[in-house]
Amino acid sequence: MTDILAQAYDPEHFRWQGHQLVDHLADYLAGMYSGSDSLEKVLHYASPEELYQRWKDDLAQAPNPDLPAYFEAILHDTIHMHHPKYMGHQTSNVAPTAALAGLAGELLDPGMGVYEQGTAGVVFERLITEALGREMGWGEATEGFLTSGGTLGNLTAMLCARQVMIERDVWENGFEGRQCAFLASSEAHYSIGRAAKVMGMGSRGVVPVPVNERFQMDISRLEECYQRAENQGVKIIGVVASSCATATGSYDPLDEIAGFCEAKKLWLHVDGAHGACVIFSKKLKYLLKGIERADSVILDFHKMLMVPKLVTAVAFRRPGHSYQTFAQKASYLWDKDEGHEWYNLAKRTFELTKSFMSVRVYALWRTYGTQLFAENVETLYDLARTFARLIASSGDFEMPVAVPESNIVCFRFFQIGWSEKKTERVNAEIREKLVMDGEYFIVQTRVQGKLYLRTTLMNPFTTERELAGLLEKIRNVIGYSELGMGNE
Ligand SMILES: Cc1ncc(COP(=O)(O)O)c(C=O)c1O
Repeated sequence: MTDILAQAYDPEHFRWQGHQLVDHLADYLAGMYSGSDSLEKVLHYASPEELYQRWKDDLAQAPNPDLPAYFEAILHDTIHMHHPKYMGHQTSNVAPTAALAGLAGELLDPGMGVYEQGTAGVVFERLITEALGREMGWGEATEGFLTSGGTLGNLTAMLCARQVMIERDVWENGFEGRQCAFLASSEAHYSIGRAAKVMGMGSRGVVPVPVNERFQMDISRLEECYQRAENQGVKIIGVVASSCATATGSYDPLDEIAGFCEAKKLWLHVDGAHGACVIFSKKLKYLLKGIERADSVILDFHKMLMVPKLVTAVAFRRPGHSYQTFAQKASYLWDKDEGHEWYNLAKRTFELTKSFMSVRVYALWRTYGTQLFAENVETLYDLARTFARLIASSGDFEMPVAVPESNIVCFRFFQIGWSEKKTERVNAEIREKLVMDGEYFIVQTRVQGKLYLRTTLMNPFTTERELAGLLEKIRNVIGYSELGMGNE
């Protein structure tokens, strides 16, 4: 063996580097939690070109054995998700136990396609999705697996729905004939429309259902949307409900949608990527009332469930459905092409080789129980309500949704007499200035065409202090008192 190979695999070297890294990360975390005033920025913003050049210069020096310096530099150049002033995109505030399990999983890195390779990891996937099924009221029959993200999870479930709902065997014979479509709220995540397009159904593959004033699917419009599509020759095969919608955090009323699906014999898929995590909370579970009647559900563990990206559960209520999506022949992987071998996961997942993602979920579940998930979600949802109260009493901010249903709060700075154009310009400027400044990190979105600032409260260490601080920071970055003069 060459020296370089021997060193790359040297256990003692690994031990030494690993201890150093864990110490460093533990200090980093302690710094994040030590009180927001003394903290450094959430993001050290650098332009894409600047960062590209910096790392290009770094790579030009390879080989460079100084691993601690590398870790230090990536801490600097990576957004700090554990910072209490991080309130941006809705991805995990990773719990250290899940990260440690991830480290073990990445070193072992078995691959999950078939049982003989995946072994315990394959079993974990079954246990996790079965337990989810029980929480959803599906009993013991639930079938499911984990996949790489909500986008792929939605595609997998929608492919299955089409295979089950139309007479033609699309998997075998391709998709042609009458246009078919799913109904979904106009606020559904873009991955729903994308999935329909990937499935060859084009932009007519999703029929948008208008939302009510709380941005939930307007049930009173479902029949009308269904009939209009049918009159235009489009066969509706299912409804995709959002639990919850990405922009506003609103939950579609599942019970009513399920009733509609049952009456029309449609597939009900619940995109619970963000908000189906409330299934673990006795207090918040009511938001999913009716989920027990869904045919398929997805849930991201890498959002509010504190697990590193990507881990999405895809669960099916009825036995056999999870096997309908793909039916690949692969004699080098399994002997019997037919047959429901739950333990050969690649029969049911888009991926063949897949990361050992279940090890991260299982570690948290096993160590803390589902109480941990419940408490995180409840804390984050409470924070959102606190923030909404602060905004409502501020006098200079407005919200499209007065009482948030989840941990997502949209709002914008507003002064009486401002035109929509001015309001948009000022809020776009606010968001840009905040990102460049780096003390806080929030995002923006459009709600019914209007631009809003958007926070997703992902960090249980965020407090009312940081939330009030954000409003004050916004006033400061735009020189609130001058803007009040309204010079357009
Ligand atoms: C409701 C909803 N569905 C699907 C997705 C896509 O999930 P992922 O980012 O894991 O692909 C998201 C992501 O934010 C989402 O909010």
